Amino acid sequence: MKTTLSVIKADIGSIAGHIKPSEALIESVRDCINRQLGQLITDFYIGNTGDDVAILFCHEHGPGCTELHQLAWDAFICGTDKAKEQGLYGAGQDLLADAFSGNVKGLGPAVAEMEIEERKAEPFLLFTADKTDPGAYNLPLYLSFADPMHCSGLILSPKISEGFKFVILDVAHVEEDRIIELNTPEDTYDIAALLRDNERFVISAIYSRATGAQATAASTTRLHNIAGTYTGKDDPVLLTRCQGDFPATGEILSPYSIGHFVAGFMRGSHVGPLMPAKMGCSISYFDGPPVVSAAGFCVHNGKLTEPVDCFDHPYWDYIRDKVSRKAFDIREQGFSGPAMLHYSELEYGGIVDTMNKLEKKFSC
Ligand code: F6R
Ligand code: MG
Ligand code: MG
Repeated sequence: MKTTLSVIKADIGSIAGHIKPSEALIESVRDCINRQLGQLITDFYIGNTGDDVAILFCHEHGPGCTELHQLAWDAFICGTDKAKEQGLYGAGQDLLADAFSGNVKGLGPAVAEMEIEERKAEPFLLFTADKTDPGAYNLPLYLSFADPMHCSGLILSPKISEGFKFVILDVAHVEEDRIIELNTPEDTYDIAALLRDNERFVISAIYSRATGAQATAASTTRLHNIAGTYTGKDDPVLLTRCQGDFPATGEILSPYSIGHFVAGFMRGSHVGPLMPAKMGCSISYFDGPPVVSAAGFCVHNGKLTEPVDCFDHPYWDYIRDKVSRKAFDIREQGFSGPAMLHYSELEYGGIVDTMNKLEKKFSC
């Protein structure tokens, strides 16, 4: 059976700053979607990571379905109304357009979708991140799909060792999608050369070379490229199938042990380590640290199991301690050097005005 998995997420308001949406907000989104259960959609799941609400839909209409995107938009509008009613911070923040126009891509929400031929058992993971941007998934995906240090299947499984096709987007190119397709193992170094630049090149999809089946779909939206100005970080979502001809669940999760440094943190303008956090987590220290959660599912005939929280295990407590230390270390140097992002990535324009003012005061 063919099933489409679509995850659409937005920040539409949260309690006490950019921390967490209210339960009432989430319930109003859920009520709106529930009305379409059994009609447009076969199943759905709603969760939050930090201040973002992610809706995972199962349906039969393929990626980019207008009615499905309209449903997500309407649900976010319902949630925004509740956020306004409760006086939440940033109500409707990610809904950049006044009205829906065919597809939520480009209107603010982040989207990742893939149509799959359901296997007999169809395990997959939904990653949702907060206080960072889409490039945050570059390194973990590279390591899970191209590095035997994390994916032992590349050595042990003949089908996995045939490699993967990476589809990489140049997100600086806003007029139209500018993409490149590269294959592992032969293009591995070229892939690394692109992916080192997390702000410009972002993985949008990965396919098995053995079967042609899609393994991964990731959101690539960068709101400031769309709106021309920063309205918040893009807090990306990612779907990844696992087991069988794809990396095992543990191989997909393995790179999150690193707590690699990503863009985000306070005011979306710093660098911080990506912390693997429990589902439904809130945000705390210094508007961060950047977090990612992983909900594991199986889907069968378009119906989801309940999610399992892949980072809710004592092992990940140890990693969270390590990542906290990394966060502390980089925060000790405040605004200096690599602790903050380049000018072009800062969420606030104030520093540019300061530099212009100071420019006039320089003398030679
Ligand atoms: C992402 C997020 C941040 C904020 C940033 C600035 O979820 O919350 O990227 O957009 O911290 O927000 P303000 O200016 O509202 O404090
Ligand atoms: Mg926010
Ligand atoms: Mg957010």
